[in-house]
Amino acid sequence: MLRRKSIVKLAEDECLPEVQRILRERLSQKSVQTQVYGLDSQRRHLLDLMRRCVSMGESNSALVIGPRGSGKTMLLQSVLDEVKSDKIAKENLLQVNLNGLLQTDDRIALKEITRQLQLENTLGDKVFGSFAATLAFLLEALKSGDKTSQPILFVLDEFDLFAHHKNQTLLYNLFDISQSAQTPIAVIGLTCRLDVIELLEKRVKSRFSHRQIHIFSSLTFEEYKEVFVEILSLPKTFPERKFMQQWNQHVKELSEETMTVDVLQRLYHSDKNIRALKSFLLLPVCKLTPDHCQLESTDFLESSQYLTMDSKAAMLHGVSVLELCLIIAMKQLTILYDGDPVNFEMVYNEYQKFVQRKGHSIQCYEKPVVLKAFEHLQALELLKPADGGQRSQKEYRPMTLLVDATQINDALQKYPNCPTEVKQWNTQEVHA
Ligand SMILES: Nc1ncnc2c1ncn2[C@@H]1O[C@H](COP(=O)(O)OP(=O)(O)OP(=O)(O)O)[C@@H](O)[C@H]1O
Ligand SMILES: [Mg+2]
Repeated sequence: MLRRKSIVKLAEDECLPEVQRILRERLSQKSVQTQVYGLDSQRRHLLDLMRRCVSMGESNSALVIGPRGSGKTMLLQSVLDEVKSDKIAKENLLQVNLNGLLQTDDRIALKEITRQLQLENTLGDKVFGSFAATLAFLLEALKSGDKTSQPILFVLDEFDLFAHHKNQTLLYNLFDISQSAQTPIAVIGLTCRLDVIELLEKRVKSRFSHRQIHIFSSLTFEEYKEVFVEILSLPKTFPERKFMQQWNQHVKELSEETMTVDVLQRLYHSDKNIRALKSFLLLPVCKLTPDHCQLESTDFLESSQYLTMDSKAAMLHGVSVLELCLIIAMKQLTILYDGDPVNFEMVYNEYQKFVQRKGHSIQCYEKPVVLKAFEHLQALELLKPADGGQRSQKEYRPMTLLVDATQINDALQKYPNCPTEVKQWNTQEVHA
């Protein structure tokens, strides 16, 4: 019995680095594996479009629109992988990748297109009158001999930024070529702006095919949970078969535990995109060590706490007791004055009333010290001036508090050795 146990343990120790490697790779943004969850119709649409361009020489243009992290880049990559699985298509297809964040004007974009098509030498020192002429020359140069022209795919990431280029020349020309079918070209724009069409000039709009592929996560919670299981499961090809089966069984059971379900549900309701799910899973996966060789539901809870941590409330744990007192004074005053701004003199007054109460062990500080503490709170951005920038004497400057009552209560609960008087003061009713 003992021997069997140690064999299992040995297997675990040896497998763990491999498990971590597989899972970390899957969670990283640069993942080569392009398993697409829940975007079937969009994928089919895009695949159809690409195939028609590559195999039938049909020109086209389309926009893939979806919020950040919804999988636009990944979807396109997965479609291209499939198209390129055909050897002839792979050799034939030329691809130009542009990004609105990098190619900030059309001159740079044109240079980049020349570079990616490897036409620097062909272009040489030739000077053309217009952008359109240069682009036409480049595309013409690609036609060699009697061979029909190769299909070219233009991918414009952060598409909306190209709309801010002068006269939208690049967009106009690309769309124009995609309509006047000399060379088969496909123009695919990726963007997170829903109103992107409105940014286009009329002449550009009229040349665009108006194909839009909208991406939004339509996963139900059950499907979302399945994605969770799938991401954490080991592949069938894992060398240690028995270990793999046990691991996958454990992940499945884990996904049914109440605590995990709760955490996942919260995540699902706040943001159901898979990028968020992946970054949520990264911490539990990285925490796997020989002493902690299984994922536990508490790991997920911890990770979710990290992700949803309230940075203002966390900052409150680091302030001094005096500063905490000033925050409470300010909160009481804010309640008293119905949310109107208050100034240092008023806060100091309130603070004095508190420390001078009988039987208190709270240290009473001099006014300049209290003022310094007050200014420190402002530097931490827990307070902000409410006078719209006009400088008044600092003791009388109106200020608003940037943390709310629940954040303060929370901080007091967790504050190490918080004096009882301070806690009580916080919960006391406020009187004029
Ligand atoms: N439906 C999905 N199926 C599988 N993985 C997904 C899905 N959606 C997003 N992801 C994952 O989320 C990560 C981010 O996706 P991607 O980079 O494609 O987003 P994006 O829409 O291009 O975002 P951005 O607007 O920031 O460019 C990828 O690593 C991918 O693995
Ligand atoms: Mg992207």
